[in-house]
Amino acid sequence: MATTPSQRLANQVALVTGASSGIGLAVAKSLAASGASVVVNYIGDAASANAVVADITAAGGTALAIQADVSKEDQVQAMFRQTIEHFGTLHVLVANAGIQVDAAFADMTLAQWQKVIDVNLTGQFLCMREAVREFLKRGVQPEISKAAGKIICMSSVHEVIPWGGHVNYATSKGGIMELMKSTAQELAPKKIRVNSIGPGAIKTPINHDAWATPEAEAKLLTLIPYNRVGEPEDIGGLAAWLASDEADYITGQTIFMDGGMTLYPGFATGG
Ligand code: BGC
Repeated sequence: MATTPSQRLANQVALVTGASSGIGLAVAKSLAASGASVVVNYIGDAASANAVVADITAAGGTALAIQADVSKEDQVQAMFRQTIEHFGTLHVLVANAGIQVDAAFADMTLAQWQKVIDVNLTGQFLCMREAVREFLKRGVQPEISKAAGKIICMSSVHEVIPWGGHVNYATSKGGIMELMKSTAQELAPKKIRVNSIGPGAIKTPINHDAWATPEAEAKLLTLIPYNRVGEPEDIGGLAAWLASDEADYITGQTIFMDGGMTLYPGFATGG
């Protein structure tokens, strides 16, 4: 039996960074299906971002694509200005844009280190700060949501699982954990909720090589007790719920959605 998607985000405006592919794309569609008007941020691939907007519109939703490099302060500020001009305000930020630039530690260049920190960590800071400024300015609109604003940081299982060969990436996610918790603590009295989602292995372009062949997938599954690789839609559904008033009493938390990857699967038969 078909079910009607809940309108748990009706009359809300959401901005999703990195929404032209992967997890961000699924989150944008899920928020739109839940009733939010959605800004689909992208950095370079306008055609894909426009396709996401077209899909959302065809499904009866509302969306707008905006280009911005989240690591650039002026571009982030321009994107938030455009969002607020177009939709009036903002209720939900999903700070999702992220990259991997992998290298063995001894070979890692400063540029490889800096790029990942700039996009994954500083990019979230810049977007969160603009969102918080708008939430504080507007305050709670009780007819729309119990909170003045909701922020979801896209973290990773690698905020807690160390990841050799990916030290810049794991460090950025560890940083996101304290960015999320410290802002959650500071801003809770202002009725702003800040949480993270910590995805495990999800089938997206960022980790394509890890699941694209049956051999690679079988190897990956040894790290996932639940024995399936996640889909972007898994994360999309969680993001819509976490942004909604059904999750109003949750702040300062990372919700891992990882099929058990953080359960130290090696210890099921060892230790
Ligand atoms: C990474 C993926 C990886 C997954 C699980 C994610 O944060 O971006 O490449 O497959 O963590 O290790």
